[in-house]
Amino acid sequence: MPDAPLVLGIETSCDETGIGIVRGRTLLSNTIASSMDEHARYGGVVPEVAARAHLEEMQPAIERALAEAQVRLEDLDAVAVTSGPGLAGALMVGIGAAKGLAVSLGKPLYAVNHLVGHIAADILSRPSSPSSPGADSVPLEYPTIALLVSGGHTSLLHVRDLTTDVELLGETVDDAAGEAFDKVARILGLPYPGGPEIDRAAVGGDPAAIRFPRGLSRASDLEKHRYDFSFSGLKTAVARWIEREEAAGHAIPVADVAASFREAVVDVLVTKALAACADRGVPRLLLGGGVIANRRLREVALARAAEAGVTVRIPPLSLCTDNGAMIAGLAAELIASGRRPSTLGFGADSTLPVTEIQVAEDSAAAQGTTVGDGTEAGPGAEAGREGTEAGHARTEAGRHGTEADRAGTEARREGTEAGRHDPEVG
Ligand code: KG4
Ligand code: ZN
Repeated sequence: MPDAPLVLGIETSCDETGIGIVRGRTLLSNTIASSMDEHARYGGVVPEVAARAHLEEMQPAIERALAEAQVRLEDLDAVAVTSGPGLAGALMVGIGAAKGLAVSLGKPLYAVNHLVGHIAADILSRPSSPSSPGADSVPLEYPTIALLVSGGHTSLLHVRDLTTDVELLGETVDDAAGEAFDKVARILGLPYPGGPEIDRAAVGGDPAAIRFPRGLSRASDLEKHRYDFSFSGLKTAVARWIEREEAAGHAIPVADVAASFREAVVDVLVTKALAACADRGVPRLLLGGGVIANRRLREVALARAAEAGVTVRIPPLSLCTDNGAMIAGLAAELIASGRRPSTLGFGADSTLPVTEIQVAEDSAAAQGTTVGDGTEAGPGAEAGREGTEAGHARTEAGRHGTEADRAGTEARREGTEAGRHDPEVG
């Protein structure tokens, strides 16, 4: 693709300030500044702290990304940004920066869905580095099932087309899988982030030592929540088990608890993902999100998928965790498929549904404003015309249908909030 668009992507939905630059499907830079250390003492991401860190990191991260890609701002064909889902205050920082860049450069702006970005991460080619060989871009085969697991989400998707057709099959009804790792790590007295700590603690442990519950896996649950996840009961079960053992004066076998807990999470993630593959007749599974760093999860997923005749795709870890390259990559796909830029009439949507792959696409734009036809499709003019109001109306409409989802997310956030002071956890 010699004329593939040069896109800079900004991702600030959680605690990573991610700036990525791609040319079409070629990854040029992937800069990540994480505020994780600042959240460590709270045992989870604190939205205000994350938003402030994004503000501080934004400009240096953009500069690093440009230097690494060896391009200048003026060379960009488009700017892309995550508009949701994620933490509203954190998203707003990225959105403000992206709008400012796009308007000042007179370049088109693409506001995209974070979850779909995780899928786009897997079609980027990787340049070689001394430590790892490069990889060509491998097109996605459709349809594919995608399992996205991080500290913020646990979602199972049916992807028929990355740019037009992504269906949410299920998601967590309470904690995200990564959040469960973080909370159980706290219960065990291990630092944040808990995933790698539990992985370490589980070495030598017996995954079958304690049979912890598999959330939403009973026959009665499978009717209504076949593809949904729940990890809050598992966290409580671990806490209660430890309390009982301590009350009985027994020493806590940390390796066994860690290995058994991890096994429960991995089992339910892989079982539900492969059930979706089987039910939908889709022999392909794509994994994404920070929890994919878990060795046991990758091992079990690969082994059980092979038995089921399902091929598994896993992006390199630097593209699994939240990053700006996946956002730029998704925008490059949208551009390649002829989609119009977004107007400025969008904001942060913390519960943006996965079906909204791009938000505020300028449906009324005149012909001749697509990227690469020589016409600068700056978003400023459209914003003036189309107006913030129209954008807002659409966002409100989008929200309308997701009241229930939003309540769920709020509950989850409160859960995190409570988790920080929760006597049961603390
Ligand atoms: O994708 P990510 O970097 O950020 C978001 O949450 O969006 O994921 C971070 C999450 C944390 O909850 C962390 O505990 C978890 O991923 N994680 C792991 C592992 N490494 C990171 N969970 C299980 N096993 C790991 N090795
Ligand atoms: Zn993510």
